[in-house]
Amino acid sequence: MITATSILTVSGLIILLTTLVYCVAMIRRHWDVLIKDRSFLITEISIEIVLLLFLLVAYYQVYKLWPGNLWVGLALFSASVLAFYEAFMAFTKARRIKERAMELLETLICVMEAGDPNLDGHSLHVHNLVSVFYDYLPPIYQQKLNYENLRYASLFLDMGKLGIPRSILTKSGKLTKDEMELMRRHPEICVNILGPVGSFSMISDWILYHHERVDGKGYHGLKGDEIPLASRVIAIADTYSALTMDRTYKASLPYDEAIIELRQTAGTQLDAELVGYFCEIPKHRIEECLISVRQITARYQDEHFGE
Ligand SMILES: [Fe+2]
Repeated sequence: MITATSILTVSGLIILLTTLVYCVAMIRRHWDVLIKDRSFLITEISIEIVLLLFLLVAYYQVYKLWPGNLWVGLALFSASVLAFYEAFMAFTKARRIKERAMELLETLICVMEAGDPNLDGHSLHVHNLVSVFYDYLPPIYQQKLNYENLRYASLFLDMGKLGIPRSILTKSGKLTKDEMELMRRHPEICVNILGPVGSFSMISDWILYHHERVDGKGYHGLKGDEIPLASRVIAIADTYSALTMDRTYKASLPYDEAIIELRQTAGTQLDAELVGYFCEIPKHRIEECLISVRQITARYQDEHFGE
């Protein structure tokens, strides 16, 4: 016979199991450059899981002793709701902290690039493009890439250019061989800058190899699948951004012409399969990425950064 107690107990049990699955999924999702070394959070999550397992056992024992007691059913149901609420709040707080951290970093990167005509807004543009691109990758690729890590790598990809003389960065003519050599060091400089931040080792290779070419003629000579998947994804967004933003040495291309250029480099410079996925993204979603960059960089137009 179905009683109020059995309904409460079964509902509570379902909530408890859902909480357990939710915790495991969230731990996987939040295992990124910001959380990886946060031992306190890992401890908190571990305690949460142990507590949930303990509640499951307690559930079974208590229900066995007082199977028809409504108060026992209510207590078990309330404990389950509380456990879910606690887990939900813990991960919501983690997500909000990460969102604020990302906003802060986006602003800092924009300020660092402001005033440089060949860099202004570029990293944020690549970052926005990669964030959209991720949604259009097949699930098998999405599982291999942590979304937050991908966003961080795309935001920091050209930070190493801070170590390149300004005269080279803003040069309107062709770079000399020595200048080009120095310019090619920017991924390495970025990795050195981020080196002391322990958890960034998760993404350092992604940044280091973002100028590799699938034909092996890139900065480090890696070919095809030897290049990390994230670096191949970022390289497409980076190339598209370079084509569609103004530079002192060239004018920007509209979306349609940039897509033609991307298709022409597929299989030699860029990963052909990934270029295919990128070109399937609706035009308006790609163009929105640059509009939002312009809105942000407009805040700095009256200032004198980099002068
Ligand atoms: Fe770069």
